[in-house]
Amino acid sequence: ILLDKPTLRTQLSFAVGVSELGGYPMLVDGRLAQIGVRETVADTARVLGRQVAAVVWRTFDQSRIEEMAAHAGVPVVNALTDQFHPCQVLADLLTLAEHRGGPAGVAGLPGRTLAYLGDGANNMAHSYLLGGATAGLHVRVGTPAERSPRPEIVARAEEIAALTGGSVVVTSSVQEAVAGADAVATDTWVSMGDATAAEEAAALFAPYRLDARVLALAAPGAVVLHCLPAYRGNEVTADVLDGPQSVVFDEAENRLHA
Ligand code: NVA
Repeated sequence: ILLDKPTLRTQLSFAVGVSELGGYPMLVDGRLAQIGVRETVADTARVLGRQVAAVVWRTFDQSRIEEMAAHAGVPVVNALTDQFHPCQVLADLLTLAEHRGGPAGVAGLPGRTLAYLGDGANNMAHSYLLGGATAGLHVRVGTPAERSPRPEIVARAEEIAALTGGSVVVTSSVQEAVAGADAVATDTWVSMGDATAAEEAAALFAPYRLDARVLALAAPGAVVLHCLPAYRGNEVTADVLDGPQSVVFDEAENRLHA
């Protein structure tokens, strides 16, 4: 378990989960390993593949983990890159199935609507698009035009949605994104490794803050998701994050089960 960026839920859930399965979770601080600095990612991958059963990596650019996967010869799990956070979205889908799947659980997910507000170009937005479409959700991303998701990710999500019965909407309108949604998700305005200044991000994303007025646009009983850590008063207000529709700690627990 290689960690190049800050982490709490991810290192906990992998360490506890691997232990429960009878494995030994070895945590490696990326500052010590300096992957890609002391040697190439490919060389590190070849060494890891000789010694471990699987690699879990939280790192920066997606190209790094793809290079790792190409050379390790063992499974490589994305524990967050600048572009994707798939393990988090698995936990979110499990949480949504528990709260909005009905008796069918996961099989009750297709046709549900998930709205995401905030930075449309970050890892969570991209993973909601791909993971949500795969689960047959209607995924709506509400974000300013200048932070739209990558076009190739939207196109891929649309292809997937066409097969699963889901759909994809990217809009700058909060109303359009949230109206009638079964779940409303948000995330930090400035992701790890993103150089955007806090004031700049606040100016850009304040209209997309998830507050009680915005949540009221969603379906009655809609659930609130946030991968955490949350910045109360920025992307989500405290009354919403700590309110009765919030399932964020079920979501955090589900990192382990997912
Ligand atoms: N988008 C956030 C997710 C944190 C779990 C980040 O990358 O910092």
